Order: sequence, then structure tokens, then C-alpha cells
Amino acid sequence: MRPEILKTRIFLDGADPEETRRVIKALGFLDGQTTNPSLLAKNPEAQAHKVDGNKFSATAIYQFYKELCQELSAMLPDGSVSIEVYADETTTVAAMLEQAREFDTWIENAHIKLPTTAPGLEAANVLTGEGRRVNMTLVFTQAQAAAVYAATKGAARGAVFLSPFVGRLDDRGENGMELIANILKMYAAGDGHVETLTASVRSMEHFLCALAYGSDIITAPGSLLLAWAEAGMPIPGPGYVYAPSGLAPIPYEAIGLDGPYASYAIGHPLTDAGMAKFSADWNSLIDMGS
Ligand code: E4P
Repeated sequence: MRPEILKTRIFLDGADPEETRRVIKALGFLDGQTTNPSLLAKNPEAQAHKVDGNKFSATAIYQFYKELCQELSAMLPDGSVSIEVYADETTTVAAMLEQAREFDTWIENAHIKLPTTAPGLEAANVLTGEGRRVNMTLVFTQAQAAAVYAATKGAARGAVFLSPFVGRLDDRGENGMELIANILKMYAAGDGHVETLTASVRSMEHFLCALAYGSDIITAPGSLLLAWAEAGMPIPGPGYVYAPSGLAPIPYEAIGLDGPYASYAIGHPLTDAGMAKFSADWNSLIDMGS
């Protein structure tokens, strides 16, 4: 059962329908699911396609992803399922739009994941203008969050998710949870059309801290959600103390939300590295000669 005082929506970060079933059973609810190419490559059925001679063709992989999203969507009819476009450094806006529009035909409750890069922002601007839903991923800075806000202005609340990656900032010695606090503070001055979805959650401390900060949504691995259910679904208040050791602070920046979206300095090495890894994991499943 969903705890009455729980305001944050809880998503599962994964691509295995069996795991989704287990989590729904343990929690008694689930508000949505996020997928990405690396998670897709870890799907038990997809694993069999990683070996030469049994790889997906370039079209069969989309069919596999489609069926997976349809299975997840059927389990989460009132929730959201995030489907990520293939994007590497050469992917054009037109190629992102083509994938996004196709994914949107797969299920009724899709949020299309786009990288927070210049082409990704342009695609988000077009897609939200068409009334579609997006989840802007690989976010590592407040400037990227401001650019997403500006690029999607006019979208309805619930149509735009912003996914800052906490764990990957921690990995390089920065306190990723401070980015969440900073974005929530910056967005408090806005119109509320972008919802903050805390992603790359690696620990119970990340999860509890995101609840305490009032993140709109959290996506977390199945193992963590099962552990939270096992612990009785604790929900800390604003007094929760999160004090990771050895992580450098990420100071708040006074960034306005009203600039043209292309005016923000959005480049970040972790966004580029993240796109390279996602595209490599996707390509590891495909027979490139097909
Ligand atoms: C979810 O939308 C993200 O893709 C995911 O949380 C990334 O997590 P990771 O940094 O552990 O790969």
C-alpha cells in the first residue's frame, strides 16, 4: 500500500518485467519505470543476444524494446514508462524526433528520454510543442536544468521530467544530492512544469535524502526498492541528515529560467560519457552487418 504521507512518486529503474512484478508485489504500488540502453542490455532475454551469431538485427532490437515497454506499460497503466532514444554524438535532431514519434505509438504512457545536449533540447522543444512527454536525461548541472525548463516552457505539468544523475556525480567526488537540492530551489521560482526525477540512485541514503528534499519523483534499482519495502517504507522528514564523507560540495548558482534555451552553457563531460556508454551498450546487442 502506498503510504499516505508519501508525496514523491516512486519509479523502478530497470528493464526486466519479472523485477517489476516483484517490486509491485513488495511495495503494493509503483508509479512508473525508467529504462535506458544499459538496463536493456542487462535484461535476461537480451543477454542471449550479446553473443556473435545471435545478435538482434537493427530493426529487431526496436521490436524487442517495444514489446518490453508494452509489457511494462500493461503493469503500470496509471504510471509512466520512460523509453530512451538511441543517441550518440552524431545523432541529429531529426533522428531523435523520428524515434520519439515512433516510441509514442508503442504505449499510451510514454515519456521519451532524450539526452540533455543541444540536439536533445531542440528535440524536446519540438516534441513538447506537439503535446508529447519527455524525460531529459544525463543532467549534471543546474544550467542544464535551466535550459530544459526554458526549452519546454508551455508544456503541461507532468509532461516534462528532468533526470539529474546523483550517483555518477558522487563517483567523481562531487556531492550529487546537492545538485538535487539546488535544482529544486531554482525550480521553486518557476511555474512547476518540469518535475525533478532523482536518478542514478545507488544507496538507501540517496533514496531517503531525495524523499526528504521533496524530489517530485525518484527512480531506483529494484534491489533498493525491495530493501525499502522490507524496512517498512520509511519516509524521513525535512530534518533528515545526509552527510556523505569525502564529497566536494556543489554550490548553488543564481541562474534565471527566462533565457532562450540555446543561451545556457550546457556542455558536461559526464553527459558525453553517458551517451557514449548508452550507445555502446545498445550497439553491443546488434549485428552491425544487418
Ligand atoms: C534513469 O533514468 C537513469 O538512466 C539511471 O538511473 C542511471 O543510473 P546509473 O548511473 O546507475 O547507470
